[in-house]
Amino acid sequence: MKDLTPRQIVAELDKYIIGQTEAKRNVAIALRNRIRRLMVKSDLQKDIVPNNILMIGSTGVGKTEIARRLAKIANAPFTKVEASKFTEVGYVGRDVESMVRDLVEHAVTLVKESKNEEVKEKAAIIVEDMLLDILIPPVRGTGFSTSNQKENFNPDNASEQELNEKTRERFKEKLKNGELEERKIEINVKQSSPAGIGMVGNGMMDEASMAGIQDMLSNMMPKRTKKRKVTISEARKILMEEEAAKLIDFDEVKEQAIHLTENNGIIFIDEIDKIASSSGKSGGPDVSREGVQRDLLPIVEGSAVNTKYGLVHTDHVLFIAAGAFHVSKPSDLIPELQGRFPIRVELTSLTQEDFYKILKDPKNALTKQYQALFESEEVYLEYTDDAIQEIASIAFSINEEVENIGARRLHTVMSHLLNDYLFDVPDSIGPNSKIMITKELVNERLNSLVKNRDLSQYIL
Ligand SMILES: Nc1ncnc2c1ncn2[C@@H]1O[C@H](COP(=O)(O)OP(=O)(O)OP(=O)(O)O)[C@@H](O)[C@H]1O
Ligand SMILES: [Mg+2]
Repeated sequence: MKDLTPRQIVAELDKYIIGQTEAKRNVAIALRNRIRRLMVKSDLQKDIVPNNILMIGSTGVGKTEIARRLAKIANAPFTKVEASKFTEVGYVGRDVESMVRDLVEHAVTLVKESKNEEVKEKAAIIVEDMLLDILIPPVRGTGFSTSNQKENFNPDNASEQELNEKTRERFKEKLKNGELEERKIEINVKQSSPAGIGMVGNGMMDEASMAGIQDMLSNMMPKRTKKRKVTISEARKILMEEEAAKLIDFDEVKEQAIHLTENNGIIFIDEIDKIASSSGKSGGPDVSREGVQRDLLPIVEGSAVNTKYGLVHTDHVLFIAAGAFHVSKPSDLIPELQGRFPIRVELTSLTQEDFYKILKDPKNALTKQYQALFESEEVYLEYTDDAIQEIASIAFSINEEVENIGARRLHTVMSHLLNDYLFDVPDSIGPNSKIMITKELVNERLNSLVKNRDLSQYIL
């Protein structure tokens, strides 16, 4: 991640998202700027704030997808909220802070994952020994004696030990080769204490301290263990988790997670247009919308939010807001908030050619997804090029005629197209068959629907 240049970031995004070059360029710059900031030596480092981004574009053109992929590329903590959620009944001002808590939560997961990766080898060695101990209990007198070894009566302890060693070696080999994965053994499993010790919020405490107290209480409860019979492969998973947790210092995790959140976190605020009030009018729902904007302001501007892992400063968190802005305009947002999103990028509507590429090119392209689904049953799905062109053209015209839902239309069209096949495999289309999707077939299955506008409103 360290040395991804803006161009490389765009290239990574290109693997998944077609078009939208403007948006990609700007998020790439924002990402690179954070690396640059961290390399600034002087006091200026603190003062360099991220250039938050406002993405404008109608539904299904890739706004969310870009932000999501960006976070993946950066391996950054990421969370997505719908701004309109805050206008719902029951909302209180401090609810907006929950997005920061979600962000830290994700950061903790990320840090834990990477720590797990670090201690994996160490834990694997310990676990292997534990498994061997269960399979071939060590001989008495070696210091690690276990009871119930009545069958080992051999007076010659030395040779017995030798034998034991040999068997262990043999089993070690078998474990390595995965020959014993299905064998059942008995292990002690730690039981998590009953979740959710009932606590009623009385308004005196915020969410964070409440979660903290819950954690504390559940840690105080005695940990019970329970014997369980599981296969070796399951046992390995359970024991690995336990051992890895022992090897990881949780205070360090917390610290790093907060550091990661503050410097690399990305918060994606979707549907920001829904909290913009169209100018002039007052009263009614608009008041609360503006209220939500005011609540958002301190977080976007930089403030300290209390989470159960500690205080998180949001000054350098990158905010990406997105909205269609069909009814309202970005200038309908309160000025303070507008100023916090200095970079505006407009996402273009997708063309038919874009649809064609979206169907075909991305690493996770829909056509590939269906191929993989069929292939799991050894049925081979193929598309001719003009069939894909035709699907794109149909999706495009339905978008024009019925409603423009962007690339999401491809999902409905594809699933409708393949519906019968999905039903027939494997009953009447057995393994090792091949399905060829041609232009004629696409037309045959979809044309009647496309022509009949009333019908396609409901089905496609
Ligand atoms: N430019 C694109 N390239 C590839 N796939 C795309 C593109 N735009 C959209 N998609 C596909 O369409 C789906 C919906 O896109 P996305 O979630 O990004 O929409 P959005 O712009 O956030 O819309 P909304 O305003 O409704 O939230 C994605 O899952 C993605 O697979
Ligand atoms: Mg979206």
